[in-house]
Amino acid sequence: MPANIAVSSDKVDEIIGRWKRSPEFVIEMLQDVQQEFRHLPRAALRRISAAIRVTPARLYHIATFYKAFSLEPRGEIPVQVCTGTACHVRGSQRVLDAFSRELDIEPGRTTPDLRFSLEGVRCLGCCSLAPVVKMGEKVMGEIDSSKVARLLRRYTKASPAKEAGDA
Ligand code: FES
Repeated sequence: MPANIAVSSDKVDEIIGRWKRSPEFVIEMLQDVQQEFRHLPRAALRRISAAIRVTPARLYHIATFYKAFSLEPRGEIPVQVCTGTACHVRGSQRVLDAFSRELDIEPGRTTPDLRFSLEGVRCLGCCSLAPVVKMGEKVMGEIDSSKVARLLRRYTKASPAKEAGDA
C-alpha cells in the first residue's frame, strides 16, 4: 500500500475558489486536485461536494469514469508502456512485464514509496518508434525488455528533470 500524500484543505479551497465555486467547473476542479495531489483524495472530494453542492456519488462517478483521474496516489514518475498494435507486435508486453518485475508492482499500481506508477496505454502517437515507453514527460522509442532495469536505475539516481538521452 503506497504512503499517503498530505492533503491541504487550504489548497483544496484555493482550487474551489479558482473555479468560482461553480458546479459548472467541477471537472476542472478535479483536474487541478489530481495535478496537485497526484490523485483525488477522498477528503478533497468531500470538501468539493460540500462547497459546490454536487453529490459525492456524482463526484465518484466522474472520478472513476475518466482515466486521467485516480482515487489512489499516483507515482511521481508515471511509466506508460504503449500496448497499441504497432508496439504490441514489436514486443511491448515483454517490456511491460519487465517494468512490472523490476518495480514489483502490477500495471495500474504505484510503488510503495510513491516514486513510480505503471500502466499500459493505447498508442502514444509515435508508432514508427515501437515499442514506445513514456516516463514522466519523456517519450522513448525502441525500448526492449533488456533496457528496462538500466532505465529505472537512471530515474532512481536522478530527478526526471535531469534525465537526458535515450535508452
Ligand atoms: S502503437 Fe505504440 S506508439 Fe502507436
